[in-house]
This record gives sequence, structure tokens and C-alpha cells, in this order.
Amino acid sequence: MLIDGCGLGLRNSFINEIEEYQESIDFLEIVPENLMHMNKKEAKRFESICEKFPVIAHGLSLSLGDVKHLDLKHLKRLRKFLDKYGIEDYSEHLSFTSIDGVQSFELLPLPMTEAMVEGVVDKIKIVEEILERTLVIENPTYYTVLASTMEESEFIAEILKRSGVKLLLDINNVFVNSFNHGFDAEAFIDEINFEKVAYCHIAGHMDYRNDLLVDTHGMPVKEEVWNLMRYVLAKKRVPIMLERDNNIPPLKELMKEYEKMQGIYNGV
Ligand SMILES: [Fe+2]
Repeated sequence: MLIDGCGLGLRNSFINEIEEYQESIDFLEIVPENLMHMNKKEAKRFESICEKFPVIAHGLSLSLGDVKHLDLKHLKRLRKFLDKYGIEDYSEHLSFTSIDGVQSFELLPLPMTEAMVEGVVDKIKIVEEILERTLVIENPTYYTVLASTMEESEFIAEILKRSGVKLLLDINNVFVNSFNHGFDAEAFIDEINFEKVAYCHIAGHMDYRNDLLVDTHGMPVKEEVWNLMRYVLAKKRVPIMLERDNNIPPLKELMKEYEKMQGIYNGV
């Protein structure tokens, strides 16, 4: 990957102000689905952003689990977009967003089975050929476990091994899943091969019930998640970025949280 240090997820609500922070932000992550239909003025502004920051892409609609269905039209459009702006790195979620091509607009959990490993690995290879890029995959949150025969850590490790892709390790997702499904987050991190980690995400979640956390990306990062980030960085100092998708504060305020992340990153 071409990135290093600390990054921020670029959102439309503060896209006009982001260039003011060129000195402090090491890289930006964008969601192509939000930027693929820009008008001329917006495209020019985005071009200028791409000249000033290293930019990576994080997709939402590939649906890696929908192994028999490939949205060729979307992939071709995506490739054109990534090429146009010189974006080399592209990540996606290890989940369903469509089933048999029907979009759910949600990240739904995969059954963690040998058959799904094979299907996902095959789909990754086809996608990589079309995009002419190596994919990075993210561990998602899940609120139910579907007919699985493998542990999550084993499932991810097998896909990484057989496909050769790298992992986007979402630290908040590990924390939320560990709480909801009763496993030890640090033990999960211990099982990860950090040679395979490309970069990390950190985000806020919501305490929905005594026994349920929800991955909302709608509030500041919780102290327990900052601690888990410290635990991850002590293993390897991989690039890390802040994701905020809902209830987005003004950029000036969000930058305070970014600076907190940067302080922890530089202190490890
Ligand atoms: Fe994430």
C-alpha cells in the first residue's frame, strides 16, 4: 500500500474544507460509491484533493459473499473511476451486500464455511483481474452467526492465505463482535498474522443494550477501543484511519479525535 501514518475517512459534509488540513492528515480514505457520479465542479475539487493527499478507496457494494453474481457494470465503472484519479488501493467488506444480485444496502454476515472460503477466494481473483488491483478485505461486524463451521479468525486467515489479499483490520469491529459474541478481543488480535495487515480502521459504536453493542460509526471512539488500538499498534505500527459515517460533527471537531488517534499512534 502507498499509505503510512494516520488517515481520515473523507465525507461529503466536509469535503470543501479538507484541503485546509493537508499538513496534519497523512492519507484519506474515500467511498467510491459516494463519488462516482460527480458533476464537473465536484470532480475538479476531488481531483485537487487527490493531488494533495494520498487517497485509498473503500467500497460498499461488491458483496464478496454473493459468489455467483458479479456486477460487471459496477466493476467497470469502478475501475474507470480508480484509474481516473490514480487510486491504487481498494478495500471491501467480507460480507454480503447483495444476494443473487439483489442489493440489500446492508453489510450482512457470511456463513463461515469451507464452501464460502472457496467462493470468496474465486470472486476476489475475478475482481482483482477486472480492477487490475490487489484487493484488501475488511473484517465486518455481525449480529448473528449463520450456519458456520469455522471460527471467524480461522475463516479470515484461510481467505487471506488462499487469495493472497491483505487485511483491513477494523479494531472497533473486533471489539463490538467480541462483546456481542463473548470472545476475547485481545486473543482474537493475537491470532492475526500482522504481515498480512494492510491498515486499520477505528470508529465509534453505540451501547444499545446491556448485552448488545451496535457498530454505528455515529459517535466518538470509546476508551476500550482506543485501548485495543494501543494493543494492535504494540504488535505492529500499521497505518490507521478514523471512520465516521453518521452524526458527523464539523471537521474542526472531528479533527480533535483525529489528533487523539495521531497522538496514540505516535506514542506507541
Ligand atoms: Fe471499518
